[in-house]
Amino acid sequence: MNVNGKHFRAINWPGGVNGQLQWIDQTKLPHHFAIKESRDAEVVARAIECMEVRGAPAIGAMAAFGLALAFITDQNRFESYWLTRFSQTRPTAVNLFHACDTMRVCAEGGATEQMMLDMACHYADTEVKRCKVMGEHLAQVLAVGERRILTHCNAGWLATVDWGTALSGIYHLARAGESPSVLADETRPRLQGAKLTAWELSQENIPCSIQVDSAAAWMMAQGEVDVIVVGADRIAANGDVANKIGTYMLALAAREHGIPFYVAAPESSFDLYCISGKDIPIEIRDEDEVLRVQGMNNHGDLGKIDITAHGIVAHNPAFDVTPNHLITSIICETGLWKP
Ligand code: MRU
Repeated sequence: MNVNGKHFRAINWPGGVNGQLQWIDQTKLPHHFAIKESRDAEVVARAIECMEVRGAPAIGAMAAFGLALAFITDQNRFESYWLTRFSQTRPTAVNLFHACDTMRVCAEGGATEQMMLDMACHYADTEVKRCKVMGEHLAQVLAVGERRILTHCNAGWLATVDWGTALSGIYHLARAGESPSVLADETRPRLQGAKLTAWELSQENIPCSIQVDSAAAWMMAQGEVDVIVVGADRIAANGDVANKIGTYMLALAAREHGIPFYVAAPESSFDLYCISGKDIPIEIRDEDEVLRVQGMNNHGDLGKIDITAHGIVAHNPAFDVTPNHLITSIICETGLWKP
């Protein structure tokens, strides 16, 4: 999608086997638009861990490129070290594990360096195509009088290489001449809604207001929300959906107020080996994310400030599971499905 009118992908490999992987450093947005580049697999793994690249499909694509780089630069340790290194970067988004499997199978089939790079590019391009088609389906659903759209976290192009999951439908609506407007939950603790979703939408001139997460149910009660659309980090075989913490709370409130609750996710976010949401591993992140907040000061410097008194402790589950009965439909590249 566009940044100042120019098309970017969240992750990009512009060269051949001697080239560098490029990615947008999402920890600096919306204040600084910085593109990082490297051909060091360890740097790529750390970029996933520290969430320079985040969002389920983008994590998968980043791992695919990181493993291609590991194969090109350190082939002897590809099986013995790098596959495990990447699969341990984050636990919840199943796309990461699909990507690791894809690259492992490619390597086991006797791939050359060029073939491994081609496979990573193919993996990323496939995610982009899936998100585009999914957005077309979602736009058709949203076009039935549902214009005031509430979303949570960032399910846009930054999270998926290009287009997005939930936001892809909104981008398609806007490009079809419709007038969607978005209520974006700020999404504590890392504020992906306030920092990333609002920025993405502003770059596409789509009206967006952010709200504190705890305003969501009240806005539904006021009749200010027509529909809710979120992404997913892992969808179990029974249709239970793991997504950013706070999603479950939204689904409960949506049910109370009779508001449709859609999940948009590509096939790579499904995990048929998880029978239900109970089997999905939930990432517990550092308490520092809750106790401190990052922003830009008046001098233009990025930094963190303490919110709480010294010694206060916090619990920080990064995801929750929404049970299938609270979900109106799951939308993926093959269309609309009942959980
Ligand atoms: O911790 P994050 O920022 O990686 O979590 C991202 C989300 O929860 C998104 O909603 C999700 O990946 C689905 S959309 C691509």
